[in-house]
Amino acid sequence: MMVEKQGFKHFMLKEIYEQPGVVRASLEAYFNTNSHPENSSNSPINIGLPTEVYADLEQIQIVACGTSWHAALVGKYLLEQLAQIPTQVQYASEFRYAPSPLTPNTLTIGVTQSGETADTLAALAMEQERRQGREPKYQARLLGITNRPESSLGHMVPHIINTLAGIEIGVAATKTFIAQLMAFYALALDLAYSRQTLPHESLEDILKGLRQIPKEIEATLESQEKLTEQLAHEFAETTDFIFLGRGINFPIALEGALKLKEISYIHAEGYPAGEMKHGPIALLDAKVPVVAIAMPGSVYEKVISNAQEAKARDSRLIGVTPVKDGEAGEIFNDLIPVSFVDELLSPILTVIPLQLLAYHIAARRGLDVDQPRNLAKSVTVE
Ligand code: G6P
Repeated sequence: MMVEKQGFKHFMLKEIYEQPGVVRASLEAYFNTNSHPENSSNSPINIGLPTEVYADLEQIQIVACGTSWHAALVGKYLLEQLAQIPTQVQYASEFRYAPSPLTPNTLTIGVTQSGETADTLAALAMEQERRQGREPKYQARLLGITNRPESSLGHMVPHIINTLAGIEIGVAATKTFIAQLMAFYALALDLAYSRQTLPHESLEDILKGLRQIPKEIEATLESQEKLTEQLAHEFAETTDFIFLGRGINFPIALEGALKLKEISYIHAEGYPAGEMKHGPIALLDAKVPVVAIAMPGSVYEKVISNAQEAKARDSRLIGVTPVKDGEAGEIFNDLIPVSFVDELLSPILTVIPLQLLAYHIAARRGLDVDQPRNLAKSVTVE
């Protein structure tokens, strides 16, 4: 199938703009739009996994690489906080040579947008093999989260959540990441529903919030496009960036740094904001800008105070935060406003300005945004 840029300068920008549609596709496919959990005997989620996948589930382990690994970290947060299931996230390239000790009743999830990443496939194959012939509770339960159900992954695992993002051409993943997040929301909420770990009202609130997300992304894109382009002009010559986040937005700090590295070739590090004092703070000065993701919720004050520490070292502070918050407005040198949404849903919004910032910096530097040097869309060798 021929995919066109449809007036966008690069595929990456087009794919960033496709994200509201990707979330809508996922909502339509996997979330029963009019369900009310309190008066329904069916889960409000419809991902079609047979009951044996969930039966007596004690643990989840997730293997992935690159951006998919970041989606898995958000997934861990959701699975643990919503469904109360202990969850480990492993780099596939590490797990395949040093797997965790075998645990019973364990679901292993491989996350790979292409379904072809060699390390992820090998990690899953190893897991399948080492569990073969064991007593039932130790047998492998494999689930794939992928954008390509027809891929090698699709042939290897019995169950798939198809992320329905459409073909992604830009090497730096954007819309497939958002789609993977949606798959994790669906899985975590389905598990939370079946294990009754979440009050109905909370579940209903989350579902309501998710249904608003496509509109929020559209508003975010509209308000941020010019702003991030202007900021990009100022940072085109910057050589180092730090991205900070905490809790559910820590993986988004990692993803923001990865996007910038991948396409602009600027050195960037993502850190959990509270860890900054244990090393990265030594890097900070007026030449190193710090992007802080500060969403109201359980760690908001903590992130703000970490951001203040960076400012005290003369770093220019860029805040990804709801605009109306007085305190945040005063601290940050630059604000990239995002809508006020439930902290739990915020990664779907906070990642957007970081994608745009990376895109505009790379475009400003005149780089090949869609085909960055030394990178491949999927890495099919070890
Ligand atoms: C490559 C791509 C990354 C991607 C990673 C994992 O390194 O350049 O953008 O995140 O592979 O790809 P997967 O297809 O397994 O999600």
